Amino acid sequence: MIYSKIIGTGSCLPDKIVTNHDLEKMMDTSDQWIRERTGIRERRVVEDNETTGTLAEQACLRAIESAGVDPAEIDLFVMGTTTPDLVFPSTACLLQKKLGLPDCGAMDINAACSGFMYALSVADKFVRTGDAKKVLVCGAETLSKITNWNKRDTAVLFADGAGALVLEASEEPGILSTHIHANGDYVDLLTTNAGVSVGWEAVSENDGKPEIQMRGNEVFKVAVRTLGRIVEETLGANDLQKSDLDWLIPHQANLRIITAMAKKLEMDMDHVVVTVDRHGNTSAASVPLALDEAVRDGRIKRGDLLLLEAFGGGFTWGSALIRY
Ligand code: ACO
Repeated sequence: MIYSKIIGTGSCLPDKIVTNHDLEKMMDTSDQWIRERTGIRERRVVEDNETTGTLAEQACLRAIESAGVDPAEIDLFVMGTTTPDLVFPSTACLLQKKLGLPDCGAMDINAACSGFMYALSVADKFVRTGDAKKVLVCGAETLSKITNWNKRDTAVLFADGAGALVLEASEEPGILSTHIHANGDYVDLLTTNAGVSVGWEAVSENDGKPEIQMRGNEVFKVAVRTLGRIVEETLGANDLQKSDLDWLIPHQANLRIITAMAKKLEMDMDHVVVTVDRHGNTSAASVPLALDEAVRDGRIKRGDLLLLEAFGGGFTWGSALIRY
């Protein structure tokens, strides 16, 4: 049996920090409201010369370096992003040569906040079937570019960043299983108001850019319910119990959703990787950013059992159970 094993991780955040107090000066909100409802204290936002691609490039270089592999050996590159640099070529293709990758397959996957879980799932399948031996997987976003900075219901939540990892084929586990789902019935609860084929008429309201529109309270309820189900599905598929888990690495949308998941899993918050307080919601970047942080600071150790999960626009949701 072939498994894919994580052999390196990396991440990148923009230098610019926007605190809740900065937002208080821009809109009718308060540090207290944001902290109490979301757990967010500050977030990182790109400058004009930074893009999803520039963040992803750094995260990927760091992952490749920590894996200690020659980029020329990588035989597939999969990126989860909702905010690509261009309509095309894909961000993965834009980065391929900059990263020194060969003429391997390179693609972007759009599954909103679940983009990294989808990318990881695709990458794992290629390794398991023997079609790829070393795969670069990245989740990167500049959600600040599709956030209306005049609207307090979304502006306080979203942010920018990138995280990446390198998978290698191994006889030992590895990724034990991945699970991805979608349900298009909920499009209206979390969407953007403009696009390439629908047209750009709506963007005049937001300084020429499309914007995220979310019915947050309703999204919250479905997210908690759905993530609860996928956690059970993931453990059940591997015949494992909640108590077997060492770490929960959840999508960082809201500390209250994360706490609810920890409670469902009967996990102490000391075993949950939390970055939402400093990163905000970086969509497809949030899980690999959190993973890299906990690997680098030594919390996650070889042999630990990790549960990764995410939920986002679509709705989409996904998970992975990993023996690190
Ligand atoms: N500052 C102050 N007050 C605010 C703000 C703000 N930034 N935003 C909203 N409010 C007000 C509302 O107007 C409302 O006022 P009212 O009671 O007078 O009408 C009140 O606060 C409560 O609003 P709710 O929306 O009910 O607040 P809630 O507790 O649900 O928190 C939040 C909102 C943080 C958005 C939460 O619902 C949430 O996190 N939802 C899930 C988000 C998520 O997981 N998204 C999925 C991933 S994102 C992706 O895929 C791109």
